[in-house]
Amino acid sequence: MDKEEIRIYSEQDMVGIRAAGRLAAEVLDHITPFVKVGVDTESLDNLMNEFIQSKGGASADIGYCGYPKATCISPNHVICHGIPSPDKYLQNGDIVNIDVTVVLDGWYGDTSRMFYVGHPSVKAKRLVQTTYETMMAGVMAVKPGATTGDLGAAMQSVAESAGYSVVRDYCGHGCGGIFHGAPNILNFGRKGAGVKLVPGMVFTIEPMVNVGSFETMTLKDGWTVVTKDKQLSAQFEHMVAVTSEGVEILTLSPKGWNYPPYQGG
Ligand code: MF3
Ligand code: CO
Ligand code: CO
Repeated sequence: MDKEEIRIYSEQDMVGIRAAGRLAAEVLDHITPFVKVGVDTESLDNLMNEFIQSKGGASADIGYCGYPKATCISPNHVICHGIPSPDKYLQNGDIVNIDVTVVLDGWYGDTSRMFYVGHPSVKAKRLVQTTYETMMAGVMAVKPGATTGDLGAAMQSVAESAGYSVVRDYCGHGCGGIFHGAPNILNFGRKGAGVKLVPGMVFTIEPMVNVGSFETMTLKDGWTVVTKDKQLSAQFEHMVAVTSEGVEILTLSPKGWNYPPYQGG
């Protein structure tokens, strides 16, 4: 089987990729004050789409394999690819992932964060905190010479030590010049396995962590991925570049809102 080639980006390419990553992070900053009890997820999607367009970008999601909306909004037991809907209202206690991929001047920026709606339970907040730590364990393992398996092993260890499971069916991916490319960044694995990292690679790290089992199910709409056991799931996503020093996070929040609570709440 032919292996898709992993792109190595030049410093000039990185200027464009950085701008796309920053815009994606700005979209999440922009939507933060609107993520509240009673809002419907289509309104959030429209606000984000308008913001992206006002900055000269476009959503990469719209029309991607027929996907109908600008962003993915995935509450509670929805693992990923929740379709924004006028009938889906956020409720007190929800935890919700918002995932944004923009294309700006031909470059892709992909990031997601969890949000608290009102006052989630201690159990829900613990899942969200651990999922952020899981993602960051993956991010911190990025350096030249490390392997994709090192990242997966680091993430799996944090999530499973807390008693959670990591989703197997979806993973991080090469990004930057394309939406989804090589290499795959699995959220589990063995140290030393997989692809060796070199400076100039760009990919996402996006672990999905479940309270219960890692098994997934896709709803009849063809997109919405849920936990089979209906227990809670959480996800964070950063796009990163491998540098000669280690790692550059391309989707940090300009406002410092990288994990909740975002406004002191
Ligand atoms: N942003 C998602 C990812 O992290 C992909 C969404 S594809 C869509 O890779 F079609 F569902 F929007
Ligand atoms: Co992604
Ligand atoms: Co994404």
